[in-house]
Amino acid sequence: MADGEEPPAKRQCVEQSHVEVTASQPGQNEGAVGQQNAGTLQATLHGGPLQAPFELRPPQSSICEQPAPRLPAREAERLAPGAYSQREEALIKREQDGDISFRYVLNNDDPQNLIHLVGLKNIFSKQLPNMPREYIVRLVMDRRHRSVALLKRNGTVIGGITYRAFHAQGFGEIAFCAVTSHEQVKGYGTRLMNQSKEFARSIDRLTHFLTYADNNAVGYFEKQGFTREITLERERWQGYIKDYDGGTLMECVMHPRVCFTTLPEMVRVQRLALDARIRELSNSHVVRPGLAHFAELGNSGAARSAVAIWDIPGVREAGWTAEMVQPGPRFRLVLEEEGGAAREASAEVLRAFLRQLLEYVKGLEESWPFRERVAVEDAPDYYDVIKDPISLDVMEERLASASFYITLDIFTADLRRLFENCRFYNAPDTIYYKLANKLESQVNTYLSSHVLFEEKEGGAGAAPHQR
Ligand code: ACO
Repeated sequence: MADGEEPPAKRQCVEQSHVEVTASQPGQNEGAVGQQNAGTLQATLHGGPLQAPFELRPPQSSICEQPAPRLPAREAERLAPGAYSQREEALIKREQDGDISFRYVLNNDDPQNLIHLVGLKNIFSKQLPNMPREYIVRLVMDRRHRSVALLKRNGTVIGGITYRAFHAQGFGEIAFCAVTSHEQVKGYGTRLMNQSKEFARSIDRLTHFLTYADNNAVGYFEKQGFTREITLERERWQGYIKDYDGGTLMECVMHPRVCFTTLPEMVRVQRLALDARIRELSNSHVVRPGLAHFAELGNSGAARSAVAIWDIPGVREAGWTAEMVQPGPRFRLVLEEEGGAAREASAEVLRAFLRQLLEYVKGLEESWPFRERVAVEDAPDYYDVIKDPISLDVMEERLASASFYITLDIFTADLRRLFENCRFYNAPDTIYYKLANKLESQVNTYLSSHVLFEEKEGGAGAAPHQR
């Protein structure tokens, strides 16, 4: 540990052997900058130039220097931002209104800067209790370090990032990052990081941020684009940055042409471009009216009839043609009452078969939990969890109506739902879950011996599409 300080208990700093040597180069540079700098740099939005009372290097080309992308009003309205963009866009609005601001702060003897740095030091000390205070003070006040302070309108510092810029190596090492406790999880941390990237990219000309993230803050850094994979050549960083125990080394690449302060708008434009391309390739965005057919029948008691597939809105438009619709394989049904005769599946035979199948299921020992609707007294939350309940007594009512189970598929779909509902509601080690499995297996065996598919050329027919 440098300067004879006690190593921090957590994120323990182990200064590398030749840090001092290389650090001196940017340090000298910064000293010169520091003397010229009389004030802070004020972040501006939408790529406006960074106001500085001094000359740094020529501005680096980036989309920040171009006008921020603007969407046509109608498109912007249609493409609502995702939650992520929404939060940051709200903060951008507050920046524009002057409620909050971000300052690039150097320790250059400017009294206002010192006030901001002391504010930052206080937040870091509080939010990073495992870091010795003296260590925080030393780094925050170090003239080789840069800080980005997040200020409220009244000038109070509510968060910030301090990093050391290794100019010759092209990367910055984030030493501290924190937002005051009552302002966390409001999006400030994200905006702060984006502002810091933009300052580091455009003023310090850095291409990478490295940091030893506290293990409990790794998730935050990941969401800011940091990865555990370090792509920066090892020679460029090893020995320059400090090792911390209890931390994870992470990296973020700052693309030279990305403007980090206008990211939400960029994401919006990207989404719009993607959306436009998808619309060129597909018509999945077209919403067609649903089928009124069944709703109109309602409880009138009228017989349900099938809807021709071509009458379903969107089927033709989606590119389906008559040749593409294959009829399901033909099958015969074995009727016990006719001594096990296999009969063509006419409407009448189907009805007789379904009655026979239902009686068979009800008669099985394992079917007792499925015979009647689940009682709320037995399972108070059942109907909150299971949105499409079914039971054998309901199936019996449907079968009696003559117009419900007009295909075998509709009937077996209800049976499948019976088992799936049970397995969804009950844990695998319960008797109900096990009975559902057993009953399903018996039903499958029954179906395979009582529904006889006509063999297609080349083998058994495929699963029927519509029976
Ligand atoms: N772990 C995992 N995810 C987190 C954490 C965390 N500790 N903190 C925030 N996040 C998530 C948020 O849930 C949010 O997720 P979302 O975008 O999916 O909604 C996202 O990160 C960004 O949240 P913000 O609201 O923008 O961040 P916030 O203002 O809370 O600031 C910060 C994050 C700086 C980590 C803050 O919580 C803090 O000061 N923590 C205490 C100090 C600390 O741990 N600092 C990092 C130490 S490591 C170092 O300094 C190098």
